[in-house]
Amino acid sequence: MLAPGATIGILGGGQLGRMTAQAAARLGFTTHIYSTEPESPGAQVTPYVTIAALDDAEALARFAASVDVVTYETENIPLSTLDAILPLAPVRPGLEVLRVAQDRLREKDYLRSIDVATAQYREVTGPEALGRAIRDLGHRAVLKTVRMGYDGKGQVMITPDINPIQAWAAIAGAADSAGLAILESFVDYRCEISVVVVRGANGSLANYPAVENQHANHILDTTIAPARIAPELAMRAEAISRHIAERLDVIGVLAVEMFVTHDDEILVNELAPRPHNSGHWTMDACYTSQFEQLVRAVAGLPLGSTERHSDAVMKNLIGNDIDRWREAVGEPMTKLHVYGKLEARPGRKMGHVTRLLPRH
Ligand SMILES: Nc1ncnc2c1ncn2[C@@H]1O[C@H](COP(=O)(O)OP(=O)(O)O)[C@@H](O)[C@H]1O
Ligand SMILES: [Mg+2]
Repeated sequence: MLAPGATIGILGGGQLGRMTAQAAARLGFTTHIYSTEPESPGAQVTPYVTIAALDDAEALARFAASVDVVTYETENIPLSTLDAILPLAPVRPGLEVLRVAQDRLREKDYLRSIDVATAQYREVTGPEALGRAIRDLGHRAVLKTVRMGYDGKGQVMITPDINPIQAWAAIAGAADSAGLAILESFVDYRCEISVVVVRGANGSLANYPAVENQHANHILDTTIAPARIAPELAMRAEAISRHIAERLDVIGVLAVEMFVTHDDEILVNELAPRPHNSGHWTMDACYTSQFEQLVRAVAGLPLGSTERHSDAVMKNLIGNDIDRWREAVGEPMTKLHVYGKLEARPGRKMGHVTRLLPRH
């Protein structure tokens, strides 16, 4: 068990790294953020920063030697980066869950291997294979790069009037060097939900309630906590999510994104072995936030309570939405979070607001 004063290394300096560092500081831990970017939201709130490439062996060795444990705030980290760190510091959650979560094909294969339902999918290696996959799955489908996608990047909707060559070209720039993509059946869902599971170093397991997620332009816009679904469905979603976290032996936080279909089927969409945007509401509405749980888990401390004292609606401030901070800060039951990003580009997550409501 790490004690206050120990140092937690965080790979990635985005808002998730920033909020993890803030939670760590409250418990008396020091943080060291490793980021490829010279300016980052995380770097503003941590005493130690390394700015280097993810394949800089020397910088990684120095970083690993200076911390007691390493965690990551994104799944878009090469496994070789973690391999370079592992001889010098433990990495939590481990490599296996990252290997699964950073590759959409491996992720779906894995989920099916542990009896978790997903959308239908096919591996796609080029325009001809895409044509065959579309004939198999039908014209309502989504083509995604296997790696490095986030916030809808590297995705294109397949429609009857788009031809495979065009569709492939649309993601080819973003496709990974292996040129692999996945075609998924379009799920005509009733709603999207997610569950954030936390698992301690001793295997203790807890989850926040299932929440409802509304996207705009494939980017999370609003999270409603808890989800407005039947208790039986919520329980099923939570059980599926806990099952995945246990099977993957996660130490830390695992977010499970799911679709609820019109016939109450639950299909898992994707996994994120890190704090998740749909868990930001826990900072203000729960006794222990997802970020504090991550710190507790990687430090080997007991988990905190995942109970909520309030219901909540979280809204992302994307691009120029950040200008609404004045309005938000004037509402007593709304909590404003600003990530400190210098430029408000369209589609960029600049902050979020959580409106607290009486618990039902
Ligand atoms: N197969 C699908 N059917 C219907 N909608 C989808 C499908 N895949 C993705 N989407 C929509 O796009 C959003 C982003 O896709 P996702 O696979 O979660 O990628 P990421 O979050 O990594 O960008 C989803 O939350 C959902 O709204
Ligand atoms: Mg997603």
